[in-house]
Amino acid sequence: MSHELPGEFTKDVVGYCVPLSLRPGEDVAFKLSSYRPGPAEWSIVELISGDDRPHGTGLIERGLGEAHAGVVEVDQQALTPGSFARIEDMPEMEEGVFEIWVYPTLLREVPQCIASLNGLEILIDESGVTATNGRGQVRVVLDLVERRWLNLRLAFGVALSLAVEQSPGGVAESAGQGFEKIGMALSVAAGTWHFASAAAGDKCFNGRLEAPVVTSRGRVIAAWDFAQAINTQRIVDTSGNARDGELFQTPTRAVKGRRWDGTAQSYHTAPEHYAAIHFHEDDFTDAGWQDSLVWRVPDDLASGQYACKVVQGESEDYIPFFVRPPAGERGADVLYLVPTATYLAYANQRLQFTGGIFGEPTFHHANDAFLYAHEDVGFSLYEYHRDGSGVHFSSRLRPILNMKPRTGTWAFNADTHITAWLHEREISFDVMTDEDLHVDGAKALSGYRVVITGTHPEYYSTSMRDGLSAWLGAGGRLMYMGGNGFYWRIAHDPDNPGVIEVRRAEDGTRAWMAEPGEYYHQFGGEYGGLWRRLGKPPNELVGIGFAAQGFDGGTYYRVQEGALDPRAAFIVEGVDAGEQWGSFGNQGGGAAGEEIDRWDVSLGSPRHAVILASSENHRPGMLRVKEEFHMTQPLGNDPKVRADMVFFEVPGGGAVFSTGSISYAGSLAHNNYDNEIARLTENVLRRFLDPEPFAMPGEDPLRS
Ligand SMILES: [Fe+2]
Repeated sequence: MSHELPGEFTKDVVGYCVPLSLRPGEDVAFKLSSYRPGPAEWSIVELISGDDRPHGTGLIERGLGEAHAGVVEVDQQALTPGSFARIEDMPEMEEGVFEIWVYPTLLREVPQCIASLNGLEILIDESGVTATNGRGQVRVVLDLVERRWLNLRLAFGVALSLAVEQSPGGVAESAGQGFEKIGMALSVAAGTWHFASAAAGDKCFNGRLEAPVVTSRGRVIAAWDFAQAINTQRIVDTSGNARDGELFQTPTRAVKGRRWDGTAQSYHTAPEHYAAIHFHEDDFTDAGWQDSLVWRVPDDLASGQYACKVVQGESEDYIPFFVRPPAGERGADVLYLVPTATYLAYANQRLQFTGGIFGEPTFHHANDAFLYAHEDVGFSLYEYHRDGSGVHFSSRLRPILNMKPRTGTWAFNADTHITAWLHEREISFDVMTDEDLHVDGAKALSGYRVVITGTHPEYYSTSMRDGLSAWLGAGGRLMYMGGNGFYWRIAHDPDNPGVIEVRRAEDGTRAWMAEPGEYYHQFGGEYGGLWRRLGKPPNELVGIGFAAQGFDGGTYYRVQEGALDPRAAFIVEGVDAGEQWGSFGNQGGGAAGEEIDRWDVSLGSPRHAVILASSENHRPGMLRVKEEFHMTQPLGNDPKVRADMVFFEVPGGGAVFSTGSISYAGSLAHNNYDNEIARLTENVLRRFLDPEPFAMPGEDPLRS
């Protein structure tokens, strides 16, 4: 892919690291690539604030010193998207028959490779199917239609023949077929086979494949059943010859195959309906780069948010990573739970270029420009593949251009408003990532008195959700600092937790819709979708849940009666009890905006929650989430469009404070951190740090 950036921007060097979260004494590998290979300066910095906009909190970093800096030689490393299957050590066959089912989803003039039998390629294009080994070929010309199942039979030996049959889409269509044979003797030598590409990145196929089988002289040599081992990156050979293959770049499994007829909705009950794999030429979950630099975290380094800063002439890159405290230790009573699952969900999100909800393409910085020029770094969970199917997977094993400072203020960079505030108030905190919580569960949180979320902790696996809930029930104090939290269920690849999956099932405010019949995760097998439809609405955990979104500016909260409740006295202490809070901020001009959450008993919000303040007077673009509409209706002044700032106690001595707005953290820094939003947030944090248990309302604290 060409490296021509729009505008005046320069960015040649880019990278990622493995792992993303680690402990003192462990190694992190930085994998760098430059379009101008050569030396680059590197240094490790603590990353405090990344919002370098003129009205932002500034780019604030603290170098670790000369011992943690130097010069590194950076090569250019390839980005090679496209998922495929590879089977090693296939035997020699003098003659044989290869059969496969094919469901193309993006036909073009340019051929795509369905299968390569050690160089004997079966290629599909918009007007037919060809089998060729470079010396001779058979071609069946046929009027092919996308999203119809085709059966292909290739026979080789003394002659080469190809039969193609296209299934009708419904009762009104008729089947299409064709056959071609040439008298060319052709055998297949021993070697490697590929499905869905000729080799990595070569003629990648877009569409589904099912049930490839090869026979020779009446014997089955290999027969792959894609309905088996759906939870893995392995394709299983059922012939008894152990010719299992491996999948690369995470194609989509647990998808409907040729036998799906609508009588089953799950591969658990009807695996034979789900015996297909969907490949995309733009699937990309592992760049596979070599290490450029390996750095060991010093034994005495405090837990926190760090980055490797790489500078090469005019071009720079920051590669953030997170350092936990040593195993079994805590460096602070406060834990900042970094919402890395959300960072992955939005990784390399391009909605601002595609005329989506953010309007016309705009480039504010080199990271945007690089992202625009490089689809080859892969997509976020907010995009479609080129064939029109939704992107189901995201990964941290590739450069992520919006998980850095000097990018827009969304997800990672917006969350640096929180770390900037914690530093400014000199509150020491440990960090941990979503992935750590997913892998370690509740025990990763044990001992922490306060957990602070990011601005947008939207994507939660079952293990993460259960872990946070268990910790809260055991006396934890949770500060939910954002909006649209705990919204989608996700799954992690069990063999590689750096890869996450989402199925946008049933309903929800969503970038794409899961296809009918494809609501179960391939990883872990759970039913996907919104937590509010899965028995665990966010309201039950944090008192509020997603109510509305809008990107045309923020507003204030109106102070409610709850602010006068004696239970909330510690929150409002020293805060001007005026009528409005947060009518300022660097995220749209108000503390309530972007994505907002509402207290709602019918969705599980605790009745005893104190509603401190509720936003009002939102702009016209702030519209209620679509999952709450039974049918479309005219818009009026919708009382359910509001952010509720709430506090409540939890049995066991714990408590929750929820802001209900993504924009909230953008108000902390206003007036040099001297404002009511910063003040009341700090009041909450100071009290939450106090070991004195919270009593449930009406309960005598002395007797509990
Ligand atoms: Fe969101």
